[in-house]
Amino acid sequence: MQPTPVPNFEAAANNAALDETASEIVDLSEGNHVLWRRSDVAEPASMLPRFIASASDDVESDTSDALSRRRLALRDSLGASQPVVSREAFAGRHEQMAMLINAIEEQRVHVVIYGERGIGKTSLVHVFTQTAREARYHVIYASCGTAANFPDMFRSVLTYIPHIYHSSVLPNSALAEQATNLDSMLPPGEFGARELAEILSGVVGTRVLVILDEYDRVVDPNFRREVAELIKNLSDRAARVQLVITGVALNLDELIGYAPSIRRNITGLPMRPMSATEVRDLLRMGERAADLRFSEAALQLIYEMSAGSPYLVRLLGHQAGLNAINADRDVVNDVDARNAIERVIDDWRASLPRRVQANLAREEAAAHWPLLVAAARAGNSADGWFTVDDVYTELRGSTSPLTIERDLKLFVNNDDLLERREGPGDPHFRFGYPGVAALLMISSSMGSKDVRNTSSL
Ligand SMILES: Nc1ncnc2c1ncn2[C@@H]1O[C@H](COP(=O)(O)OP(=O)(O)O)[C@@H](O)[C@H]1O
Ligand SMILES: [Mg+2]
Repeated sequence: MQPTPVPNFEAAANNAALDETASEIVDLSEGNHVLWRRSDVAEPASMLPRFIASASDDVESDTSDALSRRRLALRDSLGASQPVVSREAFAGRHEQMAMLINAIEEQRVHVVIYGERGIGKTSLVHVFTQTAREARYHVIYASCGTAANFPDMFRSVLTYIPHIYHSSVLPNSALAEQATNLDSMLPPGEFGARELAEILSGVVGTRVLVILDEYDRVVDPNFRREVAELIKNLSDRAARVQLVITGVALNLDELIGYAPSIRRNITGLPMRPMSATEVRDLLRMGERAADLRFSEAALQLIYEMSAGSPYLVRLLGHQAGLNAINADRDVVNDVDARNAIERVIDDWRASLPRRVQANLAREEAAAHWPLLVAAARAGNSADGWFTVDDVYTELRGSTSPLTIERDLKLFVNNDDLLERREGPGDPHFRFGYPGVAALLMISSSMGSKDVRNTSSL
């Protein structure tokens, strides 16, 4: 007997009209597709999970299931793993975009964009790149790695600048016809900021923007020195080349080092947390894509818990939306948002090393919970380091500085939660493992002590 073709697993699972007796693996001779045919719906546990759709990106035709389609649409609009690259998927940030354009176009300065991880720096420069190219800027985007070295990085940048943009090359000349790039003007081997600026100051016919993303990752101090020198030289020569540097940092000095000579040639652009309106704009993308609506209460919770981080807004919005879709609802309510937050806290906790989890679960941590949360808040406004005074302020004076110092020290043993730095001035503390402070804050805002839950140990 010829088996009747079964479309695919998703469809079959919902197809009540399937042949009751069929429970076999059928080889449909055309194309050698092997499909699992199920007989009843009573044994879902015995089946291995499958992908919802094929990897072809074509949501419409990949699945006939409306729920799966909504889930995929929600993931595509709110998935949190990639920077945004197009204006359509970019929410808010009008002010930062205007400042960036103004610095480049009106002030003709170099720009340093700084802020914490996940705040949206890379997304901003991607969308800015699109906008600048529309205005005929020649934009080169380079992401810095830990091993970045000055000559290699800029030699490769120059391979993207055609020779025709150099004043020494006459249009219609042989060189202009050759389609070579500015890297051919560089000396072989090592070179420094001066030689580079010399070449770049010859740029005509366009303006060049070089974006150096993730600048904070560069380890080589020489790289930073040369970049500062390059900025100075380009500015002195009024070159038609500007740098846009982004990095995780709290302020300009931290990122570019203290270099007074270039200060007036640079504008710092701090990336701040998103406003409530921007968070709403971001979630609206998920609403439109997946036919959902976030209730006011859900929105408020996500806004508060994310503290304006677009990364967290997406993570929480995605989870909360999935919760609603799975319950076949069109409105995402505060319970969905709460579940999403709890789930994120759980995942977060599970991702911490075992010893950190164990330290958080200790009796001593439980007894000093408000102190640890206050310490997390105190460390949040700076580079992670905080003083007894900072914690005192967070606790609004409810505990004396002496007691705070004594209690903080309980957590400063080897492999414990806090590190202590001695030096000039007050002793400084900070959480030894990244993520712990954020976890403490988000869980305390939730009013839950869930973070101490030991079930996963
Ligand atoms: N303006 C925005 N609109 C929508 N999503 C954003 C926006 N800015 C950032 N995101 C999202 O937040 C996450 C972190 O953004 P990213 O640009 O990589 O931050 P950073 O470079 O500062 O670490 C990414 O998932 C990105 O999609
Ligand atoms: Mg980035």
